[in-house]
Amino acid sequence: MAKNIYIKTFGCQMNDYDSERMYRIMEARGWRRVEKADDADLIVINTCSVRDKAEHKAVSEVGMMKRVKRKNPKCVTVLAGCVAQQHGEKLLGRAPNLDLVLGTHALHKLPELVEKCLEGRKMAQTDWDYENLYLDERYPGAGESGRLSWKGSLASGFVSIMNGCDMRCSYCIVPRVRGREISRPMVSILREIEGLVSSGVREITLLGQIVNRYGRDAKDRLAFYNLLKNALEIEGLKRLSFASSHPNYMTPEVIGLIDTETRLASHIHLPVQSGSDAILKAMRRGHTIKKYKETVGALRKARAGLSVTSDLIVGYPGESEEDFQATCDLLEEIRFDGLFAFMYSPRPETPAESLEETVSPEEKSARLKRVHEIAMPIIEEKNRALVGKTLDVIVHGFHERDAKYFGRSSCYRVVHFEGDDLRVGDTVRVAVTKGLPNSLLGSVVVSG
Ligand code: SAM
Ligand code: SF4
Ligand code: F3S
Repeated sequence: MAKNIYIKTFGCQMNDYDSERMYRIMEARGWRRVEKADDADLIVINTCSVRDKAEHKAVSEVGMMKRVKRKNPKCVTVLAGCVAQQHGEKLLGRAPNLDLVLGTHALHKLPELVEKCLEGRKMAQTDWDYENLYLDERYPGAGESGRLSWKGSLASGFVSIMNGCDMRCSYCIVPRVRGREISRPMVSILREIEGLVSSGVREITLLGQIVNRYGRDAKDRLAFYNLLKNALEIEGLKRLSFASSHPNYMTPEVIGLIDTETRLASHIHLPVQSGSDAILKAMRRGHTIKKYKETVGALRKARAGLSVTSDLIVGYPGESEEDFQATCDLLEEIRFDGLFAFMYSPRPETPAESLEETVSPEEKSARLKRVHEIAMPIIEEKNRALVGKTLDVIVHGFHERDAKYFGRSSCYRVVHFEGDDLRVGDTVRVAVTKGLPNSLLGSVVVSG
């Protein structure tokens, strides 16, 4: 029987990582990844439930896969990830073409459960399984392949360093769907990075909900710093970055490393969520605006030109005009290099679920528009300010369309550039010639 697997991924980088892990687990058992759902015998929709819209998109994707089952009745359809963990078995009733609901702690069970589905069974697996979250030793293939990629680039890879979240921000469903915060053993992380680097990956991003809390479950304040130091010793690794960080857990040791270790990316993703202390308190974020600004100040002092990106929510219950103005003022003051802004979406089983929504949908949308009107020109201005500068860029690929290479700079910009005879994974010095709203143009001055 043909064994083709197709995975469609929604949500954050953690889901990209999990999808890659499912691919590897199945590839180790003879399955082959395909680019189109229509060619698949196993379809996995890896879902996100962080906002209402994301959840609906993922569930409707399952419905769209009915067409494949009509052509290939033996095709197994799986809904995996955060929506699976949230709704469990109920989803089987909502989508008749669905065979398996696979929760966030059950990815390693995919092969055995698919076997059962092939025998005609339908089931949901959403038990918490903290023992088996990281199985790279037991599953050959996981932790060894170089195919883990950043948007398809073989030069760049993600490595999960922790799972779950213990922060309990009032609006957030992640702790409910990903479970308790568990730090992955350091040896296992380092082994995975070594495996990726030896297969050609040059740039690694360490992933966790709050990466700088790494090791807190073992009460090891310096665990994240030690992890970074050890990872930087891996020969062949050209750039290391991490996301997301939280201002309260940014230790002087990590800031010191950003100062001295140039292979740490010139980029930090530090979500702020709101510019108002009253809203931050209601959100139970655990930090103030003063603390946020101090952290950004210390980081920018440690590394000139550090790019700072952030997440923001508008229209949280109780967000007044003044609160929102404080967010606008913060955007002008910090001048982010990139921003992901969202309208608040009430989520089931979160502390904020029962709060009365005080900001109308129209007003949320107007506030989001205002945020973009402030943030986007700043981002473009900062991109234009890089014209004439020379940046270290890791080559991710080549576009036939415009005959240009593309890659990512240490300051996290996508760069399109002219050059000769480059390979994916090369590091080049690129002189920036133009700053666009979301990327830079340039040409190679030195390759190596
Ligand atoms: N762990 C990361 C942190 O706290 O920095 C964030 C992870 S969350 C998956 C990504 C972003 O989604 C958050 O930073 C927040 O801005 C946004 N988000 C989370 N819950 C949301 C909600 N209920 N409505 C709107 N946006 C939300
Ligand atoms: Fe959600 Fe807060 Fe945890 Fe981030 S830190 S995942 S926003 S609960
Ligand atoms: Fe990520 Fe969405 Fe789950 S943002 S952790 S995939 S709820």
